[in-house]
Amino acid sequence: MAMTGVLRPGHAQLRVLDLEEAVHHYRDLMGMEETGRDAQGRVYLKCWDEHDHSSIILRQADRAGIDLLGYKVLNKATLEKLDADLQAYGVKTLRIPAGEMLETGERVQFVLPTGHTIELYAEKTAVGNGCSLINPLPWNPKTTGMAVRRLDHALLYGPNIAAAQKIFVDVLGFNLVERVLNPEGNANAVVFLSCSIKSHDIAFGEFPEPGKLHHCSFMLGSWEEVLRAGDIMSMNKVPVDIGPTRHGVTRGCTIYAWDPSGNRFETFKEDRSPYPDHEPLTWTFESLGEGGGLDFVQRKLHETFLTVVS
Ligand SMILES: [Fe+2]
Repeated sequence: MAMTGVLRPGHAQLRVLDLEEAVHHYRDLMGMEETGRDAQGRVYLKCWDEHDHSSIILRQADRAGIDLLGYKVLNKATLEKLDADLQAYGVKTLRIPAGEMLETGERVQFVLPTGHTIELYAEKTAVGNGCSLINPLPWNPKTTGMAVRRLDHALLYGPNIAAAQKIFVDVLGFNLVERVLNPEGNANAVVFLSCSIKSHDIAFGEFPEPGKLHHCSFMLGSWEEVLRAGDIMSMNKVPVDIGPTRHGVTRGCTIYAWDPSGNRFETFKEDRSPYPDHEPLTWTFESLGEGGGLDFVQRKLHETFLTVVS
C-alpha cells in the first residue's frame, strides 16, 4: 500500500498537574528528548526514533487528560482535501495558524462525537533521529531511560464511538482492524482503527463521559525492551496498572502505567501487520477477561481497564 492521506499519529497535547514533574517522567524516565518550550509554557518532547520536532506537548493544568491528538497527513494538498471532505461530511473544522504550536504548520481541528479534539497537519520541522541520513547508525547512542521509539497510538474513551469510527473510516481512510463487542453483543465496546499496517493508529472505547484519555502508547523495539521499561518503572516507583503481559487483542506486548498526573501510558511492542485487505477480528466482551483479550498471560479482566481514565 502506498502511504497517502493520513500518515500517522503525530502529536498529543497532554494536561499535567505539575509541569517539571511531568518533564522528569517523559524526558528522564521514558527517555524522550526535550525539544522546546513556548511562550504559553508548554514543553515539547520527541521520542528518539521520531524525525519530526515533537510528539508530546505537556501543558500544565488543574486536571489531567488530553487536549488534542494530531495526525500528520502527506502534504498541504492532502490537508486541504481532507478539510473539504470533513466539511462535506458535516464535520465543522477550525483552522489553527502555523506557529501556534512550535515548528508546526497550519492545523485543521475538529471535535469528534466522543468529545475529543482531533487535528490534521502537513508540516512539522524535521530534526532527525540522531542517526544521520547518510550511513546511519542503527540507534541513537544518546538514548536513555526506557528509550521509547515513537508515539504509536492512543485509546480514547467517550460516548458514541460508532460515529467517531465512521468519520475515521469514511472520511480519513482508516480501516477497522479489531473490535471488542459490548456485553449485549449488539455494538462495539472498543474499536481499533489503522491508517497503516499497524494494529491501530487510534482506538476508541465506549464510555459515558466525553473526551477521556485511556492511554497514549509508546513503541519499543522488542519484548525485552518492554520488560526493561518495567524495570525502570519499578526502580523509579512509577505506578503500574497492568503487565508486563501480552494483549490478546492486537497481540501487542504491553505494560500500562501512570504518569505523575494520572495519565495512563503504555510501553508497547507491536506484533501484527494487518494489511487493509485482511478481515477485521472480533472479540466478544467475555473474551476480554477469561479469553485473554486484555491480559493473555493472566486471562483476567482488570477493572481499571474499564473504569480509570483521565
Ligand atoms: Fe494501547
